[in-house]
Amino acid sequence: MSDTFRLSVNGREHSVTAEGDTPLLYVLRNDIGLASPKYGCGTEQCGTCNVIVDGDKAFSCTLTVRDAAGKAIVTLEGLGTPENPHPVQAAFIAEQAAQCGYCTSGIMISAKVLLDRNPDPDTDAIRVALQDNLCRCGTHSRVFRAVRRAARALAR
Ligand code: FES
Ligand code: FES
Repeated sequence: MSDTFRLSVNGREHSVTAEGDTPLLYVLRNDIGLASPKYGCGTEQCGTCNVIVDGDKAFSCTLTVRDAAGKAIVTLEGLGTPENPHPVQAAFIAEQAAQCGYCTSGIMISAKVLLDRNPDPDTDAIRVALQDNLCRCGTHSRVFRAVRRAARALAR
């Protein structure tokens, strides 16, 4: 049975009608029209669906719309704009830290959450923060450089 849920996404309120156990990912993409979180595995194994919920990284493929309602949800679209990218986004562009790009939104979300908590992460801290984010294109060394570049930019 469908219910109506109030979602706060990137600072805007949305009212959506869905079954309560619908994955947040489907609602973000199909009802709200945000394309950055992507379906990869559906089982918290790849990170392509990552979003920020109340400041924590979340897997939107398994988080239900019922459990996301009333919380502050941020997707990559909420970090910055093409004209004014967030330092994490700017660093990934500068380092060309994407190939096909399918994983990149989730990786930038993980990097944002990491840098919010640890402004000067070492290699091990970056590795741990990104361990749930898979990239089959092999961009890892560029991603590490991008995270370090973003940390330097945020420290200025
Ligand atoms: S689609 Fe959510 S972790 Fe893979
Ligand atoms: S850039 Fe293709 S999967 Fe990561």
